[in-house]
Amino acid sequence: RSFTRSIISCVTVGMLSMSLSAQADTLTRQNGAPVGDNQNSQTAGPWGPVLLQDSHLIEKLAAFDRERIPERVVHARGVGVHGYYENYEDLSDDTVAAPFQGEGKKTEVFVRFSSVVHGHLSPETLRDPRGFAVKFYTEQGNWDLVGNNFPVFFIRDAIKFPDMVHAFKPSPVTNKQDAKRVFDFFSHVPESTHTLTMLFSDYGTPASYLNMDGSGVHAFKFVDDEGNVKYVKFTWKANQPIKNFTAEEAMKQQGMDFQPHTTDVYTRIGEKGETASWDLYLQELEPEQLDDFDFNPLDTTKIWPEKLVSSRKIGRLVLNRVPDNFFEETEQAAFAPSNLIPGIEPSEDRMLQGRLFSYADTQRYRLGVNAYRIPVNAPKNVEINNHEQHGQLRTTSTNRDVNYQPSRRLDLNEDPAYRYSSKPLAGMTQQIPFYKEQNFKQAGEFYRNLDKQGRKNLINNMGGALASVPEEEIRVIISAFMYNADKEYGTGVAKLAKVSISQVRAEAKALMDEQAGRAAKAKKVA
Ligand code: HEM
Repeated sequence: RSFTRSIISCVTVGMLSMSLSAQADTLTRQNGAPVGDNQNSQTAGPWGPVLLQDSHLIEKLAAFDRERIPERVVHARGVGVHGYYENYEDLSDDTVAAPFQGEGKKTEVFVRFSSVVHGHLSPETLRDPRGFAVKFYTEQGNWDLVGNNFPVFFIRDAIKFPDMVHAFKPSPVTNKQDAKRVFDFFSHVPESTHTLTMLFSDYGTPASYLNMDGSGVHAFKFVDDEGNVKYVKFTWKANQPIKNFTAEEAMKQQGMDFQPHTTDVYTRIGEKGETASWDLYLQELEPEQLDDFDFNPLDTTKIWPEKLVSSRKIGRLVLNRVPDNFFEETEQAAFAPSNLIPGIEPSEDRMLQGRLFSYADTQRYRLGVNAYRIPVNAPKNVEINNHEQHGQLRTTSTNRDVNYQPSRRLDLNEDPAYRYSSKPLAGMTQQIPFYKEQNFKQAGEFYRNLDKQGRKNLINNMGGALASVPEEEIRVIISAFMYNADKEYGTGVAKLAKVSISQVRAEAKALMDEQAGRAAKAKKVA
């Protein structure tokens, strides 16, 4: 009846009634038909069962049953924000990538910050790296720089990633995260020393997504219009002061509001209309320089120290608008390191190479084969022009009879200007670690750059977590990693982890000898 009333009022009484009736829109079914009763199911009389013919009821329950899509297998909890990237320096001599052409050029972006290990509704106060993923909507297609707040990662080869995530996530038996499982795994992974050190410092509990730095972590390639290549790294430096929680502050915060990062972004940018910005810094290496260092520049467990590879400011990121709807944009956002544009190519970094496959693959499962047609993921400044078609949830299709290529009937041709760069290769296929592992040095440098309180907090956080591991062998090995990074650091951790320092020293030496042994073997094969 209310549906009929609305129609009558619209047609007979004019504009004023139209806007009044718009306030009381009629509830409809999925097919648009009006709903007569949304409070009582159809039943067979006052005492009888509910009727199968109540299609509105069935449709409503069925839609509810399917509300959840799989959460991301990692980085499940996050916050999205819109904004733009403004380029400061014309980099057309180094790359043909659209965002870096000309001074002052602006490119629209969508950014998603996230925590890593825990689920979709987990507390944001837990110790974790943080994701810092940026989607650039360029006129050459979308470029995703899917980075983290830390400039390094725990492992250097994608083959270890599923095991690492299993160890970090709750046990399949108890559904509890367990330090015993985490440290058991990492006691076999000395290259994790650098990132574990960052994780257990106060940088592992940022106070706000807007008050932390970000990094692309991997080396990428810049390619110019003649196919010349430079290896590059990207770093986001916050213009807001860096703010971290101490372990005690994080615990206290969790008791008051366990989602402070979401609250913060929606309050500062959403309600108060503030903006947040980061400067983008670039480091560049010529291909001939890759073997010039005592570490491998294509190793994700390493930074390129600024004293060895200078960095310069090339632009800034400005975030200024929260999404209209969380599910449509933040939850359905699909960032992938394989979403690259002309002028930016992947380096040979073994982690990055695995990531090139993993993200688009998981998104086909999480969001479906048409994930990149969802508005937040679709290019905004260029059309998708190819013959991939159909599949679940495809809402747009071209009506071309020619859905193949090449064709004499339709001019949809590739452009050789956009061929990938080429690289000479020689050697045999192999499965060998890097010959420059250098697993501990940069962790020590990070430790020594912390202030006194920061070092103390790190030792307390790491030593405290390690102390809960029952196996002495694991506590000794992890303490030895830290000892190899810095003697004071390792000694402090060992003390709290209740292991003998002489055992730690012996293990530390054995680890260095093993590293040298692996290096010699790998060098021989190389
Ligand atoms: C999310 C895999 C390493 C940063 C994800 C997702 C997968 C994944 C499957 C979920 C994507 C989705 O459902 O949309 C991997 C693998 C890695 C790896 C296999 C190693 C081989 C890294 C590294 C970084 C990183 C080194 C940082 C540089 C992120 C971020 C997200 C993410 C920021 C969340 C993106 C978003 O906000 O939607 N990763 N990851 N991952 N990963 Fe990784």
